[in-house]
Amino acid sequence: MQNETNGRVVLRATNLTKDLYLGHVVVHAVRGVDLAIYENEMVGIVGPSGSGKSTLLGLIGGLDTPTEGRIEIDGVDITHMSEGRLAEVRNEKIGFVFQFFNLVPTLTALENVALPIQFARYPKFDPEQRARELLELLGLADRLNHRPMELSGGQQQRVAIARALANNPPLLLADEPTGNLDSEASEVVLQALNDVWRETGTTVVLVTHDLDLARKMGRVLRLVDGRILGEVEPV
Ligand SMILES: Nc1ncnc2c1ncn2[C@@H]1O[C@H](COP(=O)(O)OP(=O)(O)O)[C@@H](O)[C@H]1O
Ligand SMILES: [Mg+2]
Repeated sequence: MQNETNGRVVLRATNLTKDLYLGHVVVHAVRGVDLAIYENEMVGIVGPSGSGKSTLLGLIGGLDTPTEGRIEIDGVDITHMSEGRLAEVRNEKIGFVFQFFNLVPTLTALENVALPIQFARYPKFDPEQRARELLELLGLADRLNHRPMELSGGQQQRVAIARALANNPPLLLADEPTGNLDSEASEVVLQALNDVWRETGTTVVLVTHDLDLARKMGRVLRLVDGRILGEVEPV
């Protein structure tokens, strides 16, 4: 278990709220979430389907804007940022891993991982060299020139993790990263996440409906109906 009293806050959410409108119906997807996540933590957020996990992660990652409340990433308030500046912050500070991998189908593994570095305003790495190193770290040294279709689900997700880490972001967000994988591939992907967490020191926030998976994280928060209801003991 991480010590919450030490370390820098990488992510702070204050009274984070998101209302969604379905015709005349308002869905209170996220209801006043307060969160502080510290440098180098590995946090699981667990909740049933529809509890607001993806909405919450989208807000935290700057993919969506809150109805109310505030989000700070690595000391930067992103709540009212322009789309252009927000895109830069996402590129530099946040890595995203999705359930369905979201790789570019026409690009090789190496090219997919290099892409965020090529988009960076101030690139910190040589794109190809960095992509190669990350893919090697993730056990894909022999798959650099394969396209997503030529890779298994577990391999695709490892490419997606490498891509998320391309610019060495302080924060890695994962939304049901094993939700589309069989149990064997899930184990491999989870191990990969653990390895990169240990290797890079990035903070990991993973959301899932799977309590067993969440409990493998260092700290586990429970989300119900858009509210954080407290912590669950990790394994
Ligand atoms: N685009 C949308 N428009 C309206 N309601 C939505 C939209 N996306 C999600 N919701 C609703 O918001 C709630 C939270 O959804 P979501 O964040 O996807 O939950 P989870 O990821 O935990 O399954 C659910 O009630 C869902 O039906
Ligand atoms: Mg979801």
